[in-house]
Amino acid sequence: MIVTVTPNTVIDQVLFVSKFEKNHTMRARDVVYSMGGKPTDASWILGELGIPSLALGFAAGAVGRKSEALLRARGVTTDFTEVEGESRLVTVIVDESDHTHSTITTSTLIVNANHVAALRQRYQSALGEATCVVLGGTLPAGVEPSLYVDLITLARERNIPVVFDASDRNLQVGLTARPNFIKPNRDELGALIGHPITTLEDAYRAGCSVLEQYGTIPVITLGREGGLAVLPGRAYRIPALKGQVVNAAGAGDAVLAGLAAALDRGQPVEEGLRLGFAAAAAVVLTPGTADCRRADVERFLPQIELIPYPG
Ligand SMILES: Nc1ncnc2c1ncn2[C@@H]1O[C@H](COP(=O)(O)OP(=O)(O)OP(=O)(O)O)[C@@H](O)[C@H]1O
Ligand SMILES: [Mg+2]
Repeated sequence: MIVTVTPNTVIDQVLFVSKFEKNHTMRARDVVYSMGGKPTDASWILGELGIPSLALGFAAGAVGRKSEALLRARGVTTDFTEVEGESRLVTVIVDESDHTHSTITTSTLIVNANHVAALRQRYQSALGEATCVVLGGTLPAGVEPSLYVDLITLARERNIPVVFDASDRNLQVGLTARPNFIKPNRDELGALIGHPITTLEDAYRAGCSVLEQYGTIPVITLGREGGLAVLPGRAYRIPALKGQVVNAAGAGDAVLAGLAAALDRGQPVEEGLRLGFAAAAAVVLTPGTADCRRADVERFLPQIELIPYPG
């Protein structure tokens, strides 16, 4: 079973406005509620693909229950640790005049040491049947990045592969536990490496240094420029598919889902990259964060190219 762990559960409320204007009352043309939070997004996408997973994490209140309901509706098993406060409701405003999106996040979960111990216990028992672990995202206030070190180490001690996706300090600290994969985007990789990533060559050099230093495979995503995966002894450039973009939020999380599916089935990483980037292309087509249609993923799968890099 694929196990996903989301410490800071969230629902995204995506508002589509014809033009975003400060100090004006705007009428949203459309409102979509969907999953948010990298590991729960991966579970949601896996569910759409008919691949079972178990979603763990901290959750609370009506938003927490909505997140659980969305996951269960797609066949995901949930076993959240109930905490205080409320799971986050994040607002994403898509401005249709220039196809940009702006996000307003919140920090509303209240987590104490007992909650952390309860999650750890659930996680340890889930590891008994885990084929791989997907974890990451932000942490609720008061939870230290050492939680990621602990959770990654517990899985690695049992030889269970870990896909880790986080940013800033959480990424830096979590990497020290040597997860098998990370999935930084351009900004996350730049922050990790300490200088901006402008070219594919920059991304490749940064990726090589992550692999060398931690033994971790970086699958770097570069928005509409596609992705770059740096594996031991080989690297691939993965062009993004061209087409309509409705909302790209959560496309990176589709890559997590693809990698997890391949690890679960014992397939080569290459299969996971193909499925992940096909799912990412399907996510950008829908208005909801991390939402996709299985038929689109299947249609895109044969179109994904893994081009050896540097060539
Ligand atoms: N505008 C776009 N056009 C085409 N493909 C896109 C676009 N944005 C993203 N993608 C596809 O999705 C993949 C992941 O996207 P991106 O790099 O934006 O991830 P991310 O920043 O981690 O996103 P998130 O954290 O919201 O999931 C890209 O590598 C690309 O294949
Ligand atoms: Mg991301």
